[in-house]
Amino acid sequence: MPARSARKTPAYVVRHSPIHGRGVFARRTIRQGARIIEYRGERISLDEAERRPDSDPDNPYHTFLFELHDGRVIDAASRGNAARWINHSCAPNCVPIEDDDARVYIEAKRTIRAGEELSYDYRLSVPGRITAKMKEGYACRCGASRCRGTMLEKKKRR
Ligand SMILES: C[S@@+](CC[C@H](N)C(=O)[O-])C[C@H]1O[C@@H](n2cnc3c(N)ncnc32)[C@H](O)[C@@H]1O
Ligand SMILES: [Zn+2]
Repeated sequence: MPARSARKTPAYVVRHSPIHGRGVFARRTIRQGARIIEYRGERISLDEAERRPDSDPDNPYHTFLFELHDGRVIDAASRGNAARWINHSCAPNCVPIEDDDARVYIEAKRTIRAGEELSYDYRLSVPGRITAKMKEGYACRCGASRCRGTMLEKKKRR
């Protein structure tokens, strides 16, 4: 049986990412379906989130918000954990799962090898028309061969 401290070592590490800023990387093999980390932070209304200062004063498109099914958001800039450093990818190896208590867990979509950067599809939604400036601000740099070019969710045709 492993020592208590060994069992507690997280499966991930935060470091500089080639995608953007800081990212989260697997320290060891993570099996498909494993619950890696909870996306923690303060739960607030969208209105309150809009009143709060930008998470990066130099980039209004930077966000630590995670949208919940009930319309509220988790603001990981307040009381957040390492999950707030997980970047977006259009070919992600993780998926966020929201449970009935509005808690969000980042799970492995497939087996992830040590050293791989963890990612999920942000599917960001913004109200109204998407301007050229917003397109640029939300441009995706995940580097996947099938990158859709944006962190935004595809708007459904009506
Ligand atoms: C939750 S933070 C992730 C951590 C971020 N790398 C950092 O150092 O602050 C989300 C922000 O990271 C940036 N980001 C994440 N994934 C990206 C991607 N695929 N392409 C471009 N920017 C990305 C965007 O500014 C996004 O709003
Ligand atoms: Zn992409």
